[in-house]
Formats: sequence, C-alpha cells, structure tokens
Amino acid sequence: MKVLVTDPIADAGLSVLREAGHDVETNYELEGEALLEAVSSAHGLIVRSGTEVTREVLEAGENLVIVGRAGIGVDNIDIDAATDHGVIVANAPEGNVRAAAEHTVAMTFAAARSIPQAHVRLKAGEWAKSDYLGAELNGKTLGVVGLGRVGQEVAKKLDSLGMDIVAYDPYISEERAERIGAELVEFEACLEAADFLTVHTPLTPETEDLISDAELELLEGGYLINCARGGVVDEDALAAKVEDGTLSGAALDVFAEEPLPEDSPLLYVEDVIVTPHLGASTEAAQENVATSTADQVSAALAGEPVINALNAPSVDESAFPRIEPYIGLAETAGKVATQLLEGRMERIEVAYEGEIAAEEVDLVTASALKGVFEPLEWQVNAVNAPQIAEDRGVEVTESKTRQAEDFQSLISVTVSDGDDELTVDGTLFAGDDPRIVRIDSYRVDAIPGGRMVVTRNTDEPGVIGLIGTVMGSHGVNIAGMFNAREAIGGEALTVYNVDTEVPDAAREELEGDDRIIGVSYITLDGGL
Ligand code: NAD
Ligand code: MLT
Repeated sequence: MKVLVTDPIADAGLSVLREAGHDVETNYELEGEALLEAVSSAHGLIVRSGTEVTREVLEAGENLVIVGRAGIGVDNIDIDAATDHGVIVANAPEGNVRAAAEHTVAMTFAAARSIPQAHVRLKAGEWAKSDYLGAELNGKTLGVVGLGRVGQEVAKKLDSLGMDIVAYDPYISEERAERIGAELVEFEACLEAADFLTVHTPLTPETEDLISDAELELLEGGYLINCARGGVVDEDALAAKVEDGTLSGAALDVFAEEPLPEDSPLLYVEDVIVTPHLGASTEAAQENVATSTADQVSAALAGEPVINALNAPSVDESAFPRIEPYIGLAETAGKVATQLLEGRMERIEVAYEGEIAAEEVDLVTASALKGVFEPLEWQVNAVNAPQIAEDRGVEVTESKTRQAEDFQSLISVTVSDGDDELTVDGTLFAGDDPRIVRIDSYRVDAIPGGRMVVTRNTDEPGVIGLIGTVMGSHGVNIAGMFNAREAIGGEALTVYNVDTEVPDAAREELEGDDRIIGVSYITLDGGL
C-alpha cells in the first residue's frame, strides 16, 4: 500500500514502513493541487507540523485509512473531517516529551541569563560583561499553564532546581498536581504568582489568545516561555510588553505563523529570544516519534488496532487478541439484525454477556454499529460509525453483564425502528467459530456467511419442502439450514445458507404462499 510522507521524519520510521512492505513516497514540497493529487492514491499519510491536513485534503484522499502525526500537536489536522471520512488520526504523544521539556528548561535559563544576546555580542567581538545581570531560577516561582505530559516534565525538572511550582490546568486533578509538587491555582493567581510562566497547552479554540494584553499585565516583571503552540500567546501584545519593560523577557519556540515572518515584531525586541520550533528536534525524539507513527500506520493498514488513535475507539495492545474475534462477530450480528428489521433505524443496543463483558469493548461496539449501518449503504467504518449514529439521531446504548446463561460469551445486537425491535445474538464456538444463536425469540445455530435467507412460516408439514422446491426450481443451491419454532403448529423460523442470489421469480413464489409469513434476504459479503 502507498504511504505518503509530506514532512521529514527520521529514516528509522521510513524503514519500518518499507519493511512492512509499503510503497513509501516522501515529498516535502507538496502544496495545493500537487498535495491533493499525491494524496488521492495514498492509503497512509504521515505529517509533522508543516502539512495542513484540511477537509479538502481528506476528501481528495479517497483511499486514505490513516493520517499519522509524527509528534504531539494535531492542530494542523482537521480531525472532524477525518472522522467524517472514516480516516483514523493518530499521533505519537510520548516520544518527544523529554526533548520538549529539556528545550523549555534551556529556554528558561537562556531568557533568565540573556545567553543568546550575550553570545551574539561576544561573537561580534564585544565583551559586554557588565550589561547582563541575570535572574536565578532557584527560589523563584514557576507558573505552568497546561500540566499535561510536557508541563509535568518541566515542572519536575525545575522543581528539582529549587523553583516553587504553581499550575493552572482546569482538566487535571489536585492530587495529580500535588504528586509532582505543584500547587493547582486559578489562572489569574498563576499569572500573578509566576516569576517565569511556561505554556504547555494544545492550541484549541479555548486556548487561542489565552494570554494576551491583560494577562501579560498580571505577569509584570516576569518572563514568558512558550514551547507549546503559537497562537496561545498574542504575539503583538507580548512583543510590546517586553519592549516597554512590563515583562523582563520572553523565550519562544513556536509561532502563530511558521516560519516566523520577517516582519514579526518578535524578531526586533532584544529580550525576546526565539528558536525555530526546535522543541522536538533531538535525534532520540525524532527516532521515537517516527517509529511510533510508522508502527501505527502499518497497524492501521493491516486492520489492526491503532494505539494512539485520536478519533477511533482505542484498544489496549495486550487485550486485543482477546477481543479480536468478537470484532467480526459483532459486525456480522449488526449486519444480520439490520437486514432483518427493514425499518428506519432509531435505536441500537449492543449487549455483552459473560467473559467478553470484562473487556474494553468500544471497538467491538463500533464494529457492531458498522455492521448495522453498512447494509444501509452509508460510507461507514469503525472510526466514523459512532459519529454517523449521532449525526443521524440513532440512539446507541451498550450494556454488560459478567453473568452468562448458556455461552461463555455472548454479543446481542438489538435494532429498533421505534415500533418494532429485533435482536440477533452471536457467540464464538471454540473461541473463534462464529455462530448466530438467537434471532428474536428463536434459538438457532446458524453459520453466518455469504448469502442467507431467513423465512418465517407456519409450522406445518410441507413448508420446508415447498421452500426447498422453489429454491431448487430456480437454480438456488441450499448449502445449509437451521429450523426453529416457538411451539408445535405455531410459527417457525428457518435460516438457509444459499450459494447464489435468490432471483425475483423465486422470491415472488415464496412470498405468494400463504404459509410463508415473511422472508428476508441477507448478504454478508463473504461473511466471516
Ligand atoms: P498534553 O495533552 O499531555 O497536555 C496538555 C495539557 O493542557 C493538558 O493537561 C490539558 O488539560 C491542558 N489544557 C487544555 N486546555 C487548557 C486550558 N484552557 N488551560 C490550561 N490548561 C489546559 O500535551 P503535551 O504532550 O504536554 O504537549 C503540550 C503542548 O506542547 C502541545 O501543544 C504540543 O503540541 C506542544 N509540543 C511542542 C513541541 C515543540 O517542538 N515545541 C514538542 C512537543 C509538544
Ligand atoms: C509536536 O507537537 O510534537 C511538536 O510540534 C514537534 C514537531 O513536530 O516539531
């Protein structure tokens, strides 16, 4: 399969992809139409922060299965559009944390001691010793905005250098903050207390311009460090506040527009020091994120779970072998249920009984939804199935019970059109042999696969013979059948596996007989 790489990643990642047999195309100059053209034949796309993966790009990527981000920030990827198109987005959230934290610490020292400014002057032949009187970090207060992976690592490192740590992060617990020696405080309190303020949030609509004029006033006399994302700090306001002396200095690795435009005021204020987005640029970090991303792209292209998928149900790698067989079973049960209901889908319930109920089943439920929606010809996969249900107003519920009645594990998919509902139960015999074991109140033992015909008929002599004769006279070979009934002489349900499509003439003949209450024709695309 083709994997297109549009931003430079370490060779180790490219090797992982080639060793997995993929055709790897690297092109770091692609823009506009050329990018759309290249992505149209790609199954995987790997980017860093340079490529904007817009809705248009995702629309052009007709064969795309996954976009891998070799790094943390995914603000350059339209995740909603990816979900709409059933494309997985996965990042590499661990591999460059240490590198980003070390760079932040380096930038903090560089700002506190004016290292870049003194360096430039000495290289120019000037011994400006008396011009620089720096600030010590020891005993000062570090304010951390965003106490996630990088923020915590920075806090730990600077705590060990004698700084007091306060942090603002509305989404983490006080307990977690305490464990790394940080005191969680409100945003304004964090700004007011900080001698050095370091930003470690993602760029989101909520964090855009989070730190602007008024916030910088609260940091009066302090330093601002941003090695997270441009756009979180208002650059014009920051340049002005350093220039007029409200702030002692700033150190920035990231910018609202990258590369930083030549006319940016940040370039002309002496005490604003800058690096060109180098936070993750260490050999170790680049190797880590490249191999982790390549592994995930390879997994997605092999139909395996993607560990850091941001828009698909995630699965623990060690649990995957236990749930893998149920993914296909749930999809099949969903497909059978939806083809039997024949109504407008309003509600879907996926229920788990027995051992499977002990597992993380998000991916299994998503597969059941995929099965339900697929015969309705919606463009669906396990990534976008939950979103499609939500968009179409289909209520989805999931339930679990560890108690099992007849089977070690059972998955039930119930579909409802608001008036009628229908349940299909599936299980695995011997751990991997799928069976449909119940359709509504009928206990059956049907092997799901290929084409199936499900008849409801009166339980009387000659009906099964009639069905067999009609099928035979129209050249339809019956490969297997299972008959179940509620009570002698009542209603019966029969599941047939047939080798070919049932022609219209045969359908008319069957449906025209008074003893046949209803017939459904099911296709499982080759089944399991
Ligand atoms: P993370 O998801 O682990 O942490 C982000 C934290 O920000 C979370 O704890 C979250 O709760 C918090 N947060 C979200 N909204 C907030 C708000 N409004 N106010 C305060 N806190 C908020 O991410 P991470 O791995 O720690 O990465 C942090 C940032 O660093 C990201 O933007 C990432 O892209 C960037 N990064 C940059 C480089 C670089 O090269 N300069 C390298 C790695 C990471
Ligand atoms: C990230 O978010 O991981 C960083 O921006 C690193 C990068 O890709 O350069």
